[in-house]
Amino acid sequence: MSKTVIKNPVNNKAYIITGPTSGIGKATAFELAKYGTLVLVGRNQKKLDEINRIITQRGQHAVSVVCDLSDLVSVRRAASEIIALGLPITGLLNNAGISPIKPAKSPQGWDLTFATNYLGPFALTEALIPHLPDGANVVFIASAVEDPERKPVKALGMKGGRYISVEASARGEWKPEGTKIPGADAYATSKQCVLAASMAFTREIPRLHFNAIEPGITPGTGLGGDANVVLRFLFGQVLTAFPPFRQYRSTPERAAQVITKVIIDDTGKTGIYYNEKGQPMIGSQLVQDTKFQDRVVAETRAFLANA
Ligand SMILES: NC(=O)c1ccc[n+]([C@@H]2O[C@H](COP(=O)([O-])OP(=O)(O)OC[C@H]3O[C@@H](n4cnc5c(N)ncnc54)[C@H](OP(=O)(O)O)[C@@H]3O)[C@@H](O)[C@H]2O)c1
Repeated sequence: MSKTVIKNPVNNKAYIITGPTSGIGKATAFELAKYGTLVLVGRNQKKLDEINRIITQRGQHAVSVVCDLSDLVSVRRAASEIIALGLPITGLLNNAGISPIKPAKSPQGWDLTFATNYLGPFALTEALIPHLPDGANVVFIASAVEDPERKPVKALGMKGGRYISVEASARGEWKPEGTKIPGADAYATSKQCVLAASMAFTREIPRLHFNAIEPGITPGTGLGGDANVVLRFLFGQVLTAFPPFRQYRSTPERAAQVITKVIIDDTGKTGIYYNEKGQPMIGSQLVQDTKFQDRVVAETRAFLANA
């Protein structure tokens, strides 16, 4: 944890942001720092220090907490460090995420994508919830790739979230007949669970406000960084210039505006899934099913309790 002690948080508000060191999270950190003190949560101390330095140089405030979201031990330690800061947390932004094409394992031996995108953020959120004041906002960065019926998802030959169970996902197993795109079933399933959990939390914990955001197709970030450079360029800069992708295209800066508006909102909005323009959208049919949402959350709690 950074040694900085913040006695008077900006506006008496503090926001936790995961993944502030790259892409959408970095742009959002710079935007959000205008509205309160930031708790920068990331896995790389040097990168956190650099973001912290820029924010401080602008006369704003931040404190860094090192956390590898794929590692449950690190997540639990980070949650304790954040709580010990004693800051008036107004919002928690679960932004960090990965989409590798090669499967890999987390420190606990779980599918790395599922652990980083879902299990870690879920554990962090649950550890922090009792310490959040009434009315605090919790925002999850989701992805529309969880919805198999969405046009761009179909156009790419992706099949949406492939949930079997939390245990199966942790083992890296997805519902059969998924996509041929490497890594995409893992990514879509992790985001399916993120959205389902966000919606379940909304019903379960009315004293807090839970919302999710699809930030738009945002080329040029670090996402999918292990993919072939030519393929990344073709998808990011060429393919997304045409329908059915073009209308969903965004930039980290535009996404940051939408996300910041949602996380600083103090009008009590909850249970909304926003699109890249900040308009409400709907998730897949399965994710909208409250029984599915509750099942995902119950299985996750049981799984993490035994971890
Ligand atoms: N880009 C898009 O088109 C798009 C579309 C829909 C949804 N999203 C979602 O938007 C969010 C941000 O993605 P992005 O495009 O901005 O990607 P990015 O540039 O790769 O940023 C990802 C961030 O997550 C952090 N991170 C990765 N693994 C981590 C771990 N184990 N522990 C802690 N932090 C970790 C990264 O830290 P390092 O800097 O240390 O790598 C980085 O700060 C993700 O949730 C992604 O799924 C993106």
